[in-house]
Amino acid sequence: MRVCSVVGARPQFIKAATVSRKLRDVGEEVLVHTGQHYDKEMSDVFFDELDIPEPEYNLGVESDTHGRQTARMIAELEPVIEETDPDAILLYGDTNSTLAGAIVGSKRDVVVAHVEAGLRSGNRDMPEEINRILTDHASDMCFAPSKAAVEALANEGIVDGVHWTGDVMYDAILAARERARESTTILEDLGLTDDEFILTTVHRASNTDDRDNLEAILDGLASAPLPVVFPAHPRTVDCLESYGLWERANEELEIVEPLGYLDFVRLLDGAERVATDSGGVQKEAFFLGTRCLTMREETEWTETVDCGWNQLVGPNTDLIREALVTDWELDPRPQPYGDGSASDRIVALLQDELEAVDPEQRI
Ligand code: UD1
Ligand code: UDP
Repeated sequence: MRVCSVVGARPQFIKAATVSRKLRDVGEEVLVHTGQHYDKEMSDVFFDELDIPEPEYNLGVESDTHGRQTARMIAELEPVIEETDPDAILLYGDTNSTLAGAIVGSKRDVVVAHVEAGLRSGNRDMPEEINRILTDHASDMCFAPSKAAVEALANEGIVDGVHWTGDVMYDAILAARERARESTTILEDLGLTDDEFILTTVHRASNTDDRDNLEAILDGLASAPLPVVFPAHPRTVDCLESYGLWERANEELEIVEPLGYLDFVRLLDGAERVATDSGGVQKEAFFLGTRCLTMREETEWTETVDCGWNQLVGPNTDLIREALVTDWELDPRPQPYGDGSASDRIVALLQDELEAVDPEQRI
């Protein structure tokens, strides 16, 4: 089988890292980087440290308005699909790169397969929510990370081609946690001690594109009883600067460049708690047993909230302040996201679909 995997943004590199090598063991992969993330710290670092194969194609699309960015990806990706003639196009998550792949794939004779299918926040103002819905509806194979995701797909009438696989980010963190503990020096580099700092990340459009929300978050974080380390997404740095909040942010927080995955996982593992608006970081905090405040009004990773490890605090200064100092109740963590073999399942399902595979030969 020949599979064209499409990635473009930071979390997609991490997700694809778990699947790519396994795909290449049993078939052919054509890896396409759309170029959505292009800074070294947002892209190359992940390819290097996670040993992701060099992409066969880089579309070089970079930043633009959502419409133009997605359109350019579509225009650049279609000839690659024509030229390489894959059996399937494999998409990850909910970014504009995902949507572009879904549109190109659905207009050609190729199986469209979506990793992280069926997630819903219920907030259609989120660009990612629209990307997810459109991608799932255009997909022939939906790989759902949780049973709730399978149900969400069924509620929209998507039942054929739906497979519960577990979550590839769980696979990723299981591989990275010990490696990060053994190999990184990030705590020493930043002068930090386990359990004596708070980690934060902010990049969601609803928080960065609204000055009041970003300032409310800053006010909340500034009250933290421990140092707050903030590997800042370039989008957030730009917004802090343009709102005149950059100096204050640097006074209140320990702002650093975006980190590589192993350094980031080490910080998340060692943090007393984390405050984030990231999808992936909410889940990773749950996997690592770190209390999480989610600075959004809703989440697609509802299981992490239901068991008490994740609290939704929105961009609300008072709720952030309170959640930074309260030791709220935690239930034992369930395992809604599989057993760490999502990537094996995904590759086996692709083989089943695209080849007549003798079950004995499967990985
Ligand atoms: C994108 C995804 C979001 C995901 C996030 C992961 C969409 C709609 N959003 O958001 O779902 O959570 O990636 O991090 O696809 N920039 C740089 N250098 C880079 C990349 C971006 O400076 O390497 C700056 C540019 O000013 C750009 C801005 O960040 O305009 C936003 O980048 P973009 O990829 O459009 O969206 P993200 O916020 O990164
Ligand atoms: N991450 C990273 N370095 C950082 C911040 C995040 O490696 O400085 C990783 C994090 O471990 C997670 C992923 O990036 O695996 C999350 O990406 P992001 O928050 O950008 O996107 P989202 O998950 O919200 O789509």
